[in-house]
Amino acid sequence: MKKFTAAMLTMALAGAMLTGCGSAASNTTADDSAAKDNTAAAATDGGTLRMGTNATFPPYEFVGDDGSVQGIDADIAAAIADKLGMKVEITDMEFDSLIPALQSDTIDVALAGMTVTPERQESVDFSDSYAKGVQVIIVPEGSDIQSPDDLEGKNIGVQTGTTGDTYCTGDYGQEHVKQFNNGPLAVAALVNGQIDCVVIDQEPAKNYVAANSGLKILDTAYADEDYAIAIKKGNTELLDKVNGALKELGEDGTLQSIVDKYINADAQ
Ligand code: ARG
Repeated sequence: MKKFTAAMLTMALAGAMLTGCGSAASNTTADDSAAKDNTAAAATDGGTLRMGTNATFPPYEFVGDDGSVQGIDADIAAAIADKLGMKVEITDMEFDSLIPALQSDTIDVALAGMTVTPERQESVDFSDSYAKGVQVIIVPEGSDIQSPDDLEGKNIGVQTGTTGDTYCTGDYGQEHVKQFNNGPLAVAALVNGQIDCVVIDQEPAKNYVAANSGLKILDTAYADEDYAIAIKKGNTELLDKVNGALKELGEDGTLQSIVDKYINADAQ
């Protein structure tokens, strides 16, 4: 995809967490969220739906040219909030801070291309799935890694706390897994020759590869997954509302049109 430029990834790399206002959502940073949280209405009273994400993950979430968080997840949250008569406020934070932020009531929902896993289900509840995810392997062109079978003994880059991190640590041992704060940093280390490959979600991988020459995605995937919205454990009132809204958005074609807006059919 051409839409996500190198400049945009550089912004992500710099951890650009600028505050700005998108059309459908107000954006905030992790730093000023505490102040906002005092005034934000609870999610279930028709007020503000506080969404947490990690905006280094195009096309699901990225920081746009105006500094606001944009992407599939931001649009889905806005569409859900619209159905519920609420407005969305987005806080951009580290990926592995999202579940703690749900648990501490700092955010109401996490939309971050987050995969449903049994381990996470012990700490949070998940909505119905709204998308499929695939863990893929990015390598330099000409790499001797040709399939997941060749990963043994290699140095693998991952984003901290993601399923790619968990799977690779389990399969190949912690000593072979190098954690990075976000995907663009892992990919930069790959470009610099510090690691042998990156295991990360497919659509962001396509964007990272498009923004860097000399990289490719292996044909054989590493794992298939389901993305869903994470909500504080036991908040069944919000979970039911979110699932109700998701169902309507699926049936009326909104979800598909949001995906089509960011993922071109010809780029698949
Ligand atoms: N799907 C993977 C997971 O749930 C990676 C998600 C990373 N998301 C992000 N916004 N950085 O672990």
